[in-house]
Amino acid sequence: MISLCDVRESLTLGEIRFDMPREMTVLEGINSLRSVRKFKSDPIPEDKLRIILESASKAASGSNTQPWEFVVVRDARMKARLKEPMLRTWLEKLAAGSGMSQRMRDVYDDATEMLRNTDNVPVIIYCCIDIDRVGKSEEVRYASIYPAVQNLMLAAHALGLATCLTVHGSTPTRGEPEVKKLLEIPEHVKIACLVYLGYPAVRLGHPKRKPIEKFTHHDHW
Ligand SMILES: Cc1cc2nc3c(=O)[nH]c(=O)nc-3n(C[C@H](O)[C@H](O)[C@H](O)COP(=O)(O)O)c2cc1C
Repeated sequence: MISLCDVRESLTLGEIRFDMPREMTVLEGINSLRSVRKFKSDPIPEDKLRIILESASKAASGSNTQPWEFVVVRDARMKARLKEPMLRTWLEKLAAGSGMSQRMRDVYDDATEMLRNTDNVPVIIYCCIDIDRVGKSEEVRYASIYPAVQNLMLAAHALGLATCLTVHGSTPTRGEPEVKKLLEIPEHVKIACLVYLGYPAVRLGHPKRKPIEKFTHHDHW
């Protein structure tokens, strides 16, 4: 079985010390990854950030175009400025959406609190696609960034860090024009999503998902 210890052996990044459990396997990582929305203020060591980004860059992409661009934001003032359009548009969306279930409301309350706290999250990473690099076909675009984003989150998890993927700042109705302007992201680059990253301030259980029988079809629907 491939373990993260094997992954470590194959990384030539000098004297890096990991505080992940040595026995954590890839499958354990996949099966315990959660969206964490409360983070400690401790900064993220540069070597860990590097491994996380390198892991993202190993993902598949259409024709190996590797169209990803990551904007890593650590500056608290910049995070505060970015929060403004993202929070404003999110609150507008919430105000417009009536008839929400209690379950959705609970998730949205946590999501809103994390967004309000954006300036205190150690690192936020805008995951972007270079449209010029990925080619014209619409279906290949997002399919060429999300494998990298998942790698990024799994690598962070393996290193004892926590993440939460959001789509804040990823469309015009989510503040994308303002975010792109603040970050000086060029015209031909599209924000796909945003990942919050830090040491977890809470411990969450395993992911709650439907049993595979509910969505798996064999040979025909
Ligand atoms: C496309 C996408 C958009 C998401 N947007 C948000 C978001 O805006 N805010 C948030 O707090 N979580 C967001 N999430 C995280 C989901 O809410 C989370 O994955 C889901 O509730 C399952 O929880 P778990 O990952 O902890 O098992 C998003 C996840 C995906 C894949």
